[in-house]
Parts: sequence; C-alpha cells; structure tokens
Amino acid sequence: MNKLFRFCATLLCMMHYVLCIGTEVKSPNGNLVLTFDAENGVPKYSLTYKGKEVIKPSRLGFELAKDKHATMGMDEMDLMDGFTVSQEETTTFDETWKPVWGETSTIRNHYNELCVTLQQEFVLKHKAQIQTDIHLRPATAIRTMVIRFRVFDDGIGFRYEFPQQRFLNYFLIKEERTEFAMTGDHTAWWLPGDYDTQEQETQQSKLSEIRSRMRQAVNWSNSSVAVFSPTGVQTSLQMKTDEGLYINIHEAACLDYATMHLEMVDAQTKALTTKLEGNSNIYTPDPTPSKYGIPKPFTFVSHLTPDATGLKGAMQAPCQTPWRTVIVSDDARDMLSSNLILNLNEPCKIEDTSWIHPTKYCGVWWEMIVGRGSWHYTNEFPSIKLDQIDWQKVKPNSTHKANNENVKRYIDFAAKNGLDQVLVEGWNVGWEDWANMWKRDVFDFVTPYPDFDIKMLNEYAHSKGVKILMHHETSSSTQNYERHIKEAYELMNKYGYDAVKTGYVGDIIPRGDHHYSQSMNNHYLYVIKEAAKHHIMVNSHEATRPTGLCRTYPNLVGGESARGTEYEAFGGNRPDHTCILPFTRLQGGPMDYTPGIFETQLSTWSNNKSWVRSTLCGQLALYVTMYSPLQMAADLPENYERFDDAFQFIRDVACDWDDSKYLEAEPADYITVARKAKGTDNWFIGGKCDENGHQSTVKLDFLDKGKKYTCTIYADAKDAHYKDNPKAYTITKKVVKAGDVLKLKEAQGGGFAVSLIAQ
Ligand code: NOJ
Ligand code: CA
Repeated sequence: MNKLFRFCATLLCMMHYVLCIGTEVKSPNGNLVLTFDAENGVPKYSLTYKGKEVIKPSRLGFELAKDKHATMGMDEMDLMDGFTVSQEETTTFDETWKPVWGETSTIRNHYNELCVTLQQEFVLKHKAQIQTDIHLRPATAIRTMVIRFRVFDDGIGFRYEFPQQRFLNYFLIKEERTEFAMTGDHTAWWLPGDYDTQEQETQQSKLSEIRSRMRQAVNWSNSSVAVFSPTGVQTSLQMKTDEGLYINIHEAACLDYATMHLEMVDAQTKALTTKLEGNSNIYTPDPTPSKYGIPKPFTFVSHLTPDATGLKGAMQAPCQTPWRTVIVSDDARDMLSSNLILNLNEPCKIEDTSWIHPTKYCGVWWEMIVGRGSWHYTNEFPSIKLDQIDWQKVKPNSTHKANNENVKRYIDFAAKNGLDQVLVEGWNVGWEDWANMWKRDVFDFVTPYPDFDIKMLNEYAHSKGVKILMHHETSSSTQNYERHIKEAYELMNKYGYDAVKTGYVGDIIPRGDHHYSQSMNNHYLYVIKEAAKHHIMVNSHEATRPTGLCRTYPNLVGGESARGTEYEAFGGNRPDHTCILPFTRLQGGPMDYTPGIFETQLSTWSNNKSWVRSTLCGQLALYVTMYSPLQMAADLPENYERFDDAFQFIRDVACDWDDSKYLEAEPADYITVARKAKGTDNWFIGGKCDENGHQSTVKLDFLDKGKKYTCTIYADAKDAHYKDNPKAYTITKKVVKAGDVLKLKEAQGGGFAVSLIAQ
C-alpha cells in the first residue's frame, strides 16, 4: 500500500439553507468543476470540463413507493424537494493501490470530495404519532439524505447515502430520479434499455434519433427481452459532442440495488414501462407519468430495473446507492485508460488472493454453439424430471460433445499449447429441456452424464498440468442454483476445479423478476461470495453488467453481459462491434468475449451459414484490445492446427499486465493498445478497426531504452478483407528498440497483433 494523504476541512455547518450560487469542487488538476446547489429546496448538480459545460443543472432525488408497512406517513413525501443543506464537507484523497490482476500493476485513486448533508422536514401522521411517541409535537419530523460527490481528473462519481435515522429507515423506491442533462444533440453509442439482456448490437446515432431507431435496435430473437421505453438506453453510454468532447455515463459498485438505465423523457414519452404478458414482453404506457414533469431536452433520467413487484428497490438504512459516474475528456484514449469505476469500488475484501490467477482456456463449446454437437445426451424424452431418470439406461444421441474422448482431445490440445484450462459445457444432466420452460429444477450441478467420467478426466487433465473449467448453466432458475450451490462447489473442490462459468439464459425463475433487479444483483453477489469461500473464480454469462466489483471481489474474473463471439454463429457481429465494447461494456470490468475464431466461414465445417465479420489478424488483436484476465481460444483445435504459425501469438500473449498504453482510439472506428506482460520486459500490441480499415502508426517510445526486442508482427495481408479474404495474413520478424516506429495497415474489418520479446 502506497502513501495515503488525507486532508479534511469542514466548511459550513448550517441549520437552514441559505440561498447561494452553489458550492464548487474541482478535480485535482482543475479541469473539471462540479457545482452543487439546493436552491428552492431542490438538489441539483452541474459539471464543466476545461470551462465547457458537460452537464447542465440536473436534479437529484427519489420518488418513493407506497408501502403498506410504512408508519407515520413516511411514504407520502418523495425525496425530491423541500431540502435544506445542514452541512457541507470537502476532503481530498490520494492513494495508490495494487489490483490482484489488471491492466496496470498500480492504480492511483486521487479525488476531491464534497459531502452534502440534506435535511427534509415532513409531516407525521397523527394516528401513528400518538401511538409511537407522545412528545413528537409539532407534528413534523426531519429526514436526512447525504449526497457524496467525488471529482477526479477523468470524471466524477456521486451517490446517495441514508444514515441510520428514525424517520427513514425502511423505504421502497418507486424510481430514482437522477438527471444527466446533456448540452446538445450528441452522438451516442447506445443499446436499447432492457431489464434482461445486453446482447444487442450497439447503435450509433444522435440523441434525437434514439426514438425512431429503437424498434429495429432491439434483438427480438434473444430468449429474454424486456425493453421498457422508446428512449431508454443502457449504461455504460458513450457519447461525443460536436466539439469533440467524450462523455461516458455508467455506475460503480452496484450492490444491493437495481441496475440503472437512462431514459430521455420528452413530451412524447409519458414514461413507458414494460409489462409481462405470458412469455412476451411488450410496451405498455404508464397511465401515471411522473408528477415531476418533463425535463429539458436531451436530459437522461435514471430508470432502475424493477423486481417482480414492479418496484425498484427496498432500502434499509444505513445504506447507499451505487455511484453514478460520468467520465469526460477531449481525448478518446482517456475513456479507455480511466480507472474511475474501479476507484469508486471498495478495496479487496478477500484476504488470501493467492488462488486467483489469470487464465487462458479452450473449450468444448464452439462446436455446440455453431450447431455441430449438442449439450444434451439423449433425444429420447420430450421433457425430463431429474429424479425420474436412470441415465445409465437411456439411449445416447451420439451428438453429445462432453464425452470422455472429445474432452481428452481438448485437454491434450491445451497441454500441448500451454493453455491453462478446458471449459466443458454439457457435462451434467438436465440439458434435454434446459431453456425457457419455466422449470425450476433444471440442473443439480453434481451429476455427470454417463459418458463424462469426472474423476478420470480431472486426473487426466491434472497429470498434464491442465484444469477443467466448470460450467453451471442455471437457466435463470436462481433458487435452484442457490439450493445446490454448496454441494456443487464442494464437488468442484473435490475434483480440483478452481473456476466456474455460470449462465443465466432465459427469463428469471421465479417468474416476473428481471436479470438486473436488486434481488438478482444480490444473487450474483451471493454466488461470488460463496465461490470465494471455496477458492473459486467466477465468469458469469447473462448476469448484470459489471460496475467494478472485481476490485472488491477479484475472484470475479470475467463475465459476458454483452453480445459476445457466440453471435458470430447467430448471424454475426458488425465489424465495429469490438471497437465499441472497450468504451462501453468494458468500463465496469473484463468481458469473456471468447475471441480467436480462425475459421471465419463456419459453413466449412458445419451447417451454419454464419460467418465471422473479422479477419484472422483482427481476432488476434482482441487478446490485447479487449482486456481480460480470462481469455479463451474459442475455435476448434483442428482449426488452430491449420494456422499454427498465427496461433503462436495466442500461445505467447499474456493476460495480466504491469502497464498499458492506449495509443490510438476512436469509438466504433479503431483501438490500438500496447501492454507490458506482468513480471516481464515483454510487450504485446493489438490494433483493431472497423469496416473501413485503419492505418496505424505505433511509436515504440514506451520500450526500455538500451534494450533490444524480437518483434513479431501478425498483420493483415495487402488483399485481406473481413468478408472476401479474411484469412490472408503475413508474419514478419525483426529486431526493434525504443524510438522505432511501426507502420501497420489494418484491412477492412481487420487488425494486427505484435509481440515484443526482450532479448
Ligand atoms: C449462453 C452463453 O453465453 C454461452 O456461452 C453458453 O454456451 C450457453 N449459454 C449455454 O450455457
Ligand atoms: Ca450469452
């Protein structure tokens, strides 16, 4: 732990708020200025960057829901107005910390803080007042809400806090109403706001075009779609102003709280909500639009994910919301190197982290995703009940891929190529009717199919220095998973598994809840904590989007929560997809994108007509541009054997880093990054571009002076093209030193990868 500076000064202590122009807090370098005021009792903030307005005055507060248990009318007045400032405190914090794994070996957390204590007077209900306390006269009481702002050089974070108090201890949130008032019709890279899925293609449009593009932006084929508004979008939301300012809105440390979306409420909106009817999620206008009216144009208002009751949160003080974050810069590269979200999370809570490690893996996976094999073992039954089947007696279907022979083939491949683990999906009974059946007892997570010898395969893998990576598809039956989790993790400990990929396909069971609600966010955290107790790393698919919790729980080594490589087999991802994700999805934590598809035409080995919208070198680049301590080599062993010289980069590339330099970046166009492998002098560089190609100039000024490096360049061939000629590449070697310049041409939908091994 490095030096810690703490400087604290109490500025004001006022019993009643005096009308004033607002309180300012500056970032340590002075570029950002946050202003807070509570004029007329309404809390508001605004933000400037280098003197330019970024966020216009925006309201802060909550609408409360009626609560049948509320006493003394505590649910009758919202937390929107009627506030006075009772205290304002400013502090400075500067600390450097070391992540267990990450893009850099140390991270500086430096900010100026403003902590505002607000008080609201409300009327007590007469009956309750008499019942509870005869001395409560006059019939009013005070409630306290604290808003804490942190201003960094790269952006701001703020959250609401509710200290333990008499008259605001248990309350239900109807809606959080945090506003982000934009200054104009910015360009935005957005996903449709959805309570259940993030597996969408990013839309690039002006803010004013969101409404007209919403319907076609939704991926209706996903097994769980719950869009709620024609102007609702997800976070992290990346924007760019006409003046070239980059603005990113997201959240940090989403704990015991619902995931936030953003809704641009305008005159036409009337706050639309989603209603579930049977299995289909449809738009239904809310007949009672918010009484707080329509904000100024281009204003986003927070929109939380409801639980099965339709409400947004059940709070018990002392408690706080997640941090609402705004990253801002005039340089796109700063969006990617920002650690603001991690810094707003609590330090690591796991004492012994020695068992957490970066992992490169392959898996019995892609062949099922493209449709050549199956997760299930038998075709005999239209439906199964786990406790009524004698698996030894059922007829195997011959397409089941998690069989001893096939798994051994992958283990051999991993051992030969220095990969740490082999993911095996479809090893456990229950896949015959696993998805979208509203079935509670889908899996037991401990019973293997008859052709998967769990003991033998783990021993075989360990004898070759490889581990098997566990797979727990829950089918979103969360109670079922929680019921089996202890036994399931004990089984993992028994056979020496130390990582699990979980999955939440389909609508949440029990019915009515959503993937990103407060209750589901609590479920994901429960899983992470239980896993930590068993020294298990977690990679969660279809779970809520990350908000930097991997700082506090570094066994959360990965997650999906976006459209991953699997969609290359379901019709394809746009070539610019991976040039956007680092700006959006990756803000909160690493993604298990599962790159490395070398045979981009899937029809060459299966009936799948899809094709991967990337060149082969573009796939190599992703191991560097899409930061993750967990990286998959997702293609089949036989496809890697065909391009073994290119596969050398995947063998060599690290997945944990001492340093990272973002060299070139523009959302949805290109990203070039150089990273120094942990504990070595070796560097790896990746460049990925969109469908237009990119000419990259890489100045090697980050290399150690006086050292020589063996430089291997994996580049798109001159005539390479993501559609017409994706597998055309060149590999060249040379010796380079600090100060040299590499000129690298990326094909349309292409990229490059470079390894620099210190001599
Ligand atoms: C969806 C996941 O994203 C994918 O990786 C997995 O293979 C399937 N669910 C089955 O669990
Ligand atoms: Ca998925």
